[in-house]
Amino acid sequence: MTNRIYLNGFGYYAPAEILTNSDLQKLVDTNEEWIVSRTGIVERHMAAPGETNSDMAVHAAYMALEAAGLEPSELTAILYATATPDSLVPSTAATVQMKLGIHRVMAMDINAACSGFIYGLQVAQGLLAADPGHNILLLATELLTGKVNWQDRATCVLFGDGSGAVVMSAEKRAPQQPALFSNDVLLEGVMSSADGTSGGEALRMTDGESNGRRYRVGDKIGDDYFIRMNGREIYKHAVRNMPEICNKLMDSLGYTIRDIDALIPHQANIRIVEAVGERLNMPPEKVFINIQKYGNTSCASIPMALCEALEQNFIRPGMRVLITAFGGGFTWGAAVLKF
Ligand code: UT7
Repeated sequence: MTNRIYLNGFGYYAPAEILTNSDLQKLVDTNEEWIVSRTGIVERHMAAPGETNSDMAVHAAYMALEAAGLEPSELTAILYATATPDSLVPSTAATVQMKLGIHRVMAMDINAACSGFIYGLQVAQGLLAADPGHNILLLATELLTGKVNWQDRATCVLFGDGSGAVVMSAEKRAPQQPALFSNDVLLEGVMSSADGTSGGEALRMTDGESNGRRYRVGDKIGDDYFIRMNGREIYKHAVRNMPEICNKLMDSLGYTIRDIDALIPHQANIRIVEAVGERLNMPPEKVFINIQKYGNTSCASIPMALCEALEQNFIRPGMRVLITAFGGGFTWGAAVLKF
């Protein structure tokens, strides 16, 4: 069993089209002041017509592979976190495998909603413990603007599209002269959890079947196809469960918050991000926020934020970074990364 697991390279992608709050004002009864004060979101990126979830992931994947100094043909597994797959079958992981031009390696999707990246780290940890020879591409990508009900102001202002990627292995493998996204980051610990009892009704998104409803050929798509959400309920559980699992993880590693140099929570809402920082007694200047640019990109938000934090020098070599997510299911998790 290997005891060292590295994130060797990072990548991210945001589609070119930007949807601003004033664009949304033309679609639904909302306004800039409400969106910014209640969510912190100023704009979000939106996939172009015809651009798929896997198209976005391929951009992030190549960036992470280059940073790790790895050819696609050297990969042994693709883990793909998403709740908005290109299709249920084939998995989007299999589609990306094809688009990267590689064959005969393990590929599977992971659906843990906004916590998918953390769940992916944990699955990768298990694979590497079983076989340290793995080179794993972990993708976290969402195309949420395709699942948003554009008549529902309570949800359509929140979400955006994007992708994040990391390459993981049991070896240090970043190039001799490290580039921005090549870091050989040590995964010190990761924990995931879920609660379908309280989470089951708070956030739902279906793909043709919901609570017994079966679509038949020729049926019109129902409202149940689109994201439905009880925002207040999620908010309440998010600000409780993220700090709780962060504390549990830090305890298990023998750390306190003073050992952590930066906190990157899932970017769901600036008020949730700030509340998580406060509950963990993390000074606000050590909490990374980029929700203003991307909105809530679900599982893509943490790897995208990690890349931006590197670009902005918010994260530097030697720093210990705590990441945490909460989302539909409910699911939640945390991980500690040593840069
Ligand atoms: O990533 C995981 C998935 N989702 C989340 O993490 C979401 C977590 N929840 C949240 O971020 C917040 O609950 C929201 C941003 C979704 C909502 O903020 P809130 O402060 O909880 O607002 P609310 O739902 O309690 O609504 C307050 C008011 C309502 O009007 P009344 O009933 O007070 O007259 C809403 O109808 O704001 C109204 N409202 C809006 N007004 C203008 C809801 N959406 C909008 C809007 N523009 N877009």
